[in-house]
Amino acid sequence: MRVLVTGAAGLIGSGVVARLAARHDVIGLDLRPGTQVSIVGDCHDVAEWRHRLGTIDAIVHTAALHAPHVGSRSDADFHRTNVKATARLLDLAVDSGAGHFVLTSTTSLYGHALEPDGVSVWVDERLDPEPRDIYDQTKFDGERLVASAGGKMTVTSLRMSRCFPEPAPDMAWYRLYRGIDRRDVAEAHALALERSGPPATYVISGATPFRRDDCEELAREASAVIKRRCPGLIERMARKGWQPPNSIDRIYDGGLAARELGFIPRHGVDSCLAGDWDPPPPQ
Ligand SMILES: NC(=O)c1ccc[n+]([C@@H]2O[C@H](COP(=O)([O-])OP(=O)(O)OC[C@H]3O[C@@H](n4cnc5c(N)ncnc54)[C@H](O)[C@@H]3O)[C@@H](O)[C@H]2O)c1
Repeated sequence: MRVLVTGAAGLIGSGVVARLAARHDVIGLDLRPGTQVSIVGDCHDVAEWRHRLGTIDAIVHTAALHAPHVGSRSDADFHRTNVKATARLLDLAVDSGAGHFVLTSTTSLYGHALEPDGVSVWVDERLDPEPRDIYDQTKFDGERLVASAGGKMTVTSLRMSRCFPEPAPDMAWYRLYRGIDRRDVAEAHALALERSGPPATYVISGATPFRRDDCEELAREASAVIKRRCPGLIERMARKGWQPPNSIDRIYDGGLAARELGFIPRHGVDSCLAGDWDPPPPQ
């Protein structure tokens, strides 16, 4: 397929281009140049670069203003990039006769629903989003636009968990319940391009060892549950000086993506322990 990937200079988009390039003819678009960028342009201003595109079969839309921009960019900027540009790209997909549109969305849009009330929150696609800030709201609005185009092509929103570079112990523990490796994110996007059917939304996160009936104890005494579900892990992490969290406030459940997309995250806490990081922790 000929696939347009927006945000191709970014953390996620560059990984997605690299992953898709093995099987597809990929055009990377970004505001800024980069090794995976073929067209420098604004995804809001489709008319300016449309003539350089030729036909396309699919769009993977990773470009966005996101959490780090909250407070420094206006609400109007968020709306322009995360909502209006998404609408224009959907129009482009329809005009081009594309068969697929994949939106990189976020678990952040669950917002207030992630605030635990003495019990960890089990997060899957059945939990209602309660956007907390302009980022959450505009990503949720973008998802709804994408879903509304479902009669015209196969549309998929991937609610990704965090994959920023962060201190090593945080990134390692997060892989159990609220974080993911960039290579796994890229794989989920590749699988989403292979599906067909009605609009779908998936939570995409590292594989969790926890179960729904662990939620009460995870909030109260996380290490007891970690000992039970991951024997020996606390000791192995302790050798690196990585102490377990006292409490875990949410668990992202990627079970639906496993069942429907065949998505199996490969780079979990064991990869972190082996020093196999992507993205690497900050120095
Ligand atoms: N990184 C994470 O932990 C994380 C977690 C959940 C969801 N996400 C989602 O993943 C996506 C990518 O995030 P990232 O971490 O790679 O961010 P990033 O800032 O590294 O990359 C975003 C890229 O989009 C480009 N861009 C922004 N506006 C554009 C526009 N109007 N036209 C063209 N290009 C534009 C930027 O130049 C940048 O290169 C976002 O949609 C974000 O909501 C990221």
